[in-house]
Amino acid sequence: MSERRIALLHGPNLGALGRRPSAHYGDFTLAELERQVREWGAERQMRIGCFQTDHEGAFISHCHGLAGIVDGAIVNPGAWTHYQWSIRDALEIMGVPFVEVHISDVEAREPHRKISVIRDVALTAVWGRGIDGYRNALDALVEELS
Ligand code: DQA
Repeated sequence: MSERRIALLHGPNLGALGRRPSAHYGDFTLAELERQVREWGAERQMRIGCFQTDHEGAFISHCHGLAGIVDGAIVNPGAWTHYQWSIRDALEIMGVPFVEVHISDVEAREPHRKISVIRDVALTAVWGRGIDGYRNALDALVEELS
């Protein structure tokens, strides 16, 4: 099988991992998370391209640019998940299967975090498993793309 190209996309405040409440987000930084996902990807013949931004327009433009370039994506849009319809539309335009991931257990936190405006365009969603959720997301993409 040829190498798959996978985008790993993070939205606002996820660049601050390591400084967020550890009860929800653990102690790892985004750089550590990205290194781990790259390693897991390599074991699965997947090349991971990482991107994080706190800016909605930058995220949308990046998604547009990925259309036709990547085979799949793993997306943690942070708080945008719960209300930002333009992010949903951009992910749809990206046009590849993607897994929605949340580090924390969004179902067990405040009610607004139970809402996802991207769930219906996502392949599947993983939450509450910390960094391991990203490995689960890679496995879901392996299955989808094989
Ligand atoms: C998050 C959950 C969101 O509710 C929150 O706004 C985040 C991170 C998670 O990974 O658990 O920034 O997506």
